[in-house]
Amino acid sequence: MTTPPEFAKLDPATPEFWNIRFKANFTPWDQRGVPQCLRDYLAAQPAAFTFKAPLRPRRVLIPGCGAANEVRYFIDRGWAPTAIDFSPAAVAQAGAQLGLLASHVRQADFFGGTILPGDFEVIYERAFLCALPRTMWAAWAKRVAELLSPANARGEGGLLIGFFVEDDNPKGPPFGLKSGELDEMLSPAFTCIEKIVPTDSIPIFAGKESWQVWARR
Ligand SMILES: C[S@@+](CC[C@H](N)C(=O)[O-])C[C@H]1O[C@@H](n2cnc3c(N)ncnc32)[C@H](O)[C@@H]1O
Repeated sequence: MTTPPEFAKLDPATPEFWNIRFKANFTPWDQRGVPQCLRDYLAAQPAAFTFKAPLRPRRVLIPGCGAANEVRYFIDRGWAPTAIDFSPAAVAQAGAQLGLLASHVRQADFFGGTILPGDFEVIYERAFLCALPRTMWAAWAKRVAELLSPANARGEGGLLIGFFVEDDNPKGPPFGLKSGELDEMLSPAFTCIEKIVPTDSIPIFAGKESWQVWARR
């Protein structure tokens, strides 16, 4: 195993913490591909578009997107992704890999005023919550609930999909959840409708992560 580089002590709540890691090409959280659980989930969704019944593409927000490995995959399956990251170095890396699709990525803070409630049907979580210091988790739970619309009379509401990391290690990132902690945070506004153990976890998350789908009530 290679020794991680020495980095200046910075706060993971700041873009600088992430910038220096992207610039040093030290991104052990990056799967460098599309996780199988996301592939399976998208394959099971109704087609977003047919010539007989063109539907508006489903809008998905990818907060803390890093290299934005999933953007092209969402687009190819008829979705409309917006990937955001507050680190300029992450946005540059994502843009370089996406080429003509780079307009789907922009520099923004998940908690900032440019991300608006009602703009997205789905939020895709991938190594973002575990990148936030635990002191920010209550704000994260409040934010995902406010960004996604509550279920309407037909039971259609926003969805939070993606990967969640359980780990008791007090040090991070990644900052892991304690067992039951995610339920405590999300259950006031969401119901968990799917939970699967992935089979293709990268080493940093192996044995600790699960794929989950939470429906806004
Ligand atoms: C562990 S990385 C995960 C990147 C990517 N999702 C992946 O799986 O490869 C966490 C990312 O979240 C970004 N980030 C942290 N806090 C953020 C915030 N408040 N708003 C937007 N991005 C943020 C960091 O810049 C970093 O790129």
